[in-house]
Amino acid sequence: MITGQTAAESEMLEIRCLLNYIFETSGYDLRNYAYASLRQRLKAAAFSARAGSIAEFHQIIRGDGKALQQLLSSIATGVTGLFRDPDFYAAVRKKVVPILRTYPSIDIWHAGCATGEEVYSMAILLKEEGLYDKCRLYATDMNESMLQKAHSGVFSSSLLQHYNDNYQKSGGKETLSLYFRRREQECCFSESLKKRIVFGQHNLVTDSSFKEFQLIACRNVMIYFNKQLQERVFRLLHESLCSFGVLGLGRGETLKFSKIEEFYEPLDARQKLYRRLT
Ligand SMILES: C[S@@+](CC[C@H](N)C(=O)[O-])C[C@H]1O[C@@H](n2cnc3c(N)ncnc32)[C@H](O)[C@@H]1O
Repeated sequence: MITGQTAAESEMLEIRCLLNYIFETSGYDLRNYAYASLRQRLKAAAFSARAGSIAEFHQIIRGDGKALQQLLSSIATGVTGLFRDPDFYAAVRKKVVPILRTYPSIDIWHAGCATGEEVYSMAILLKEEGLYDKCRLYATDMNESMLQKAHSGVFSSSLLQHYNDNYQKSGGKETLSLYFRRREQECCFSESLKKRIVFGQHNLVTDSSFKEFQLIACRNVMIYFNKQLQERVFRLLHESLCSFGVLGLGRGETLKFSKIEEFYEPLDARQKLYRRLT
């Protein structure tokens, strides 16, 4: 520690140093993630690697590429679920579907899709509303291993009861089992559900817009970012949304106080659905 520096300042420096190293070696830019939660996750990772400090952990990461990959996976927590927040999907059915019906073809982006349950939920909803065949769903995440899992479309049978409840609460019109095959401990989404979904790696921090969409869902991702990074990502989402397109955020996220707020009206403020004005 440099003389006159507090332990907190010294740790902050060590973290900054580690984040610079991660960016330089892997391209993952975590430097503007929300500090308090990032620190917590780095400390937990350091503890599991038996490192006494962030600086010591940095040395471990330098000598072990696998440790870096493990760290990246633990930072990008992929908590998700089928029809997570059922009220959000109920609002999509009621308020977004009528808008989508007005388009001859529909492009949808799930940014930060984790293991894909979110995009499969949307695919099921669109099938039941008779819109699936005119949609293309793009599901992206920065984490390659989560994307592989998303692509496989496999989930554990132990989650079935919970997913069934969510599906019913979201206004599901059929039985969920119509959309997957069960093989003992695992369920796998049917090919007919997958056929219009494109999975790809995209980093919201470093990559740019790649298409124009009628609907973008970027849910429970922005909570990991600091204000400056949130603004960057809001701008990217805004540039990727067509006029009068719809943006859906997570429960703890909001367009309020962002620089793009003035270009949107709430379609359902409670469910964090916003419509672009022009
Ligand atoms: C908590 S999950 C949310 C999953 C899903 N959207 C949902 O709401 O259920 C957060 C996801 O954001 C992804 N993520 C974090 N930073 C990202 C970035 N810079 N670019 C793209 N995805 C990112 C993580 O890899 C993780 O899969």
